[in-house]
Amino acid sequence: MTGADASPTGGAVRVRSNAKVNLALRVRGKRDDGFHELETVLLGLELAGEVTVSRADGAAPGSLFVATSGPCATADIVDGPEHLALRGAAAAREALGADDALHVAVTKGVPSRAGLGGGSADAAAAAWATLELLGGPTLGGEAVLARAADALAAVGSDCAFFFEARGRSAALATGRGERVRPFAGSPPWSISVLTPDVECATPAVYGALGREAGSVAAPAWDLDRAEALLALGVDAARAELMNDLEEAALRAEPRLGAWLDLVDEAGHGHLTLAGSGSSLFGLHSNHDEATAAVEAILAAGRERGLGFRFACVTRAEASLLDRLATGGAPTGTESAR
Ligand code: C5P
Repeated sequence: MTGADASPTGGAVRVRSNAKVNLALRVRGKRDDGFHELETVLLGLELAGEVTVSRADGAAPGSLFVATSGPCATADIVDGPEHLALRGAAAAREALGADDALHVAVTKGVPSRAGLGGGSADAAAAAWATLELLGGPTLGGEAVLARAADALAAVGSDCAFFFEARGRSAALATGRGERVRPFAGSPPWSISVLTPDVECATPAVYGALGREAGSVAAPAWDLDRAEALLALGVDAARAELMNDLEEAALRAEPRLGAWLDLVDEAGHGHLTLAGSGSSLFGLHSNHDEATAAVEAILAAGRERGLGFRFACVTRAEASLLDRLATGGAPTGTESAR
């Protein structure tokens, strides 16, 4: 059913699979289903991998194959039935009522277990690519899109953001993250992303929420405020960044504290946890300032024996999950390790 043992043939659709950061993430309370009620402003990044879906002609109907490669392909991503991209393709295929054998090729350009939404983006990208491959010009129609969105929500809480905000940059999301109001914007910032050499498991971080999970508090964000955030200069935007999961991430993975102290003491205490971590991101006036910040933090880390498994300078994505010409390699970042 899975693995790299079927060669793709026929047409192929290749889609960019972006990273995200949460510019603001408020936990408004715990729900009866165990999930937390959120209010979050998400921004897509040019930092991206790619997902290519093609027909696996000759394979038995219903078969799905997945193969992962790329700079961020790590041992935790297993080419099996639980692969998020495979589940995204399956969700879209089922929504279409189709059973074509498919091959899903994932080029990981976003580190996993890093709070950057990479797995959810792979699932959403695989779903889009499947709809474009099998759904014809209408992608199967509105009912199919709605069914695919519902099925994707079960794959991961951030899938809805990528799926619904396709073609735009950002969104205000509520519920467990599935109520998405996308918007366009082109913030003037360069964005540093640094992933410490520790992983934060999302369920453990939510599980470590204490009083901050609270009862459902009044909303603080609306679409106007979220859109205005993207137009702010660096200083004003930094003042708006916040993440209610930061304390919980520290409780779930106390070693993260050493990296938070490190960036603070390197003069970059404005860096903020991405989602449930462990990545940190910062807003900077231009590429050179962002690069200098990343280099200073990496150098300070080396002095203390604190490693980073990923670091780059990127920007906001203008158009999430874009369809790409077949062939080529992931783009959108300048890595500094
Ligand atoms: O849906 P996702 O895979 O991102 O969620 C992983 C885990 O994080 C969930 O099983 C749940 O424990 C927690 N979570 C939550 N509230 C959310 C999103 C995630 O409690 N809104």
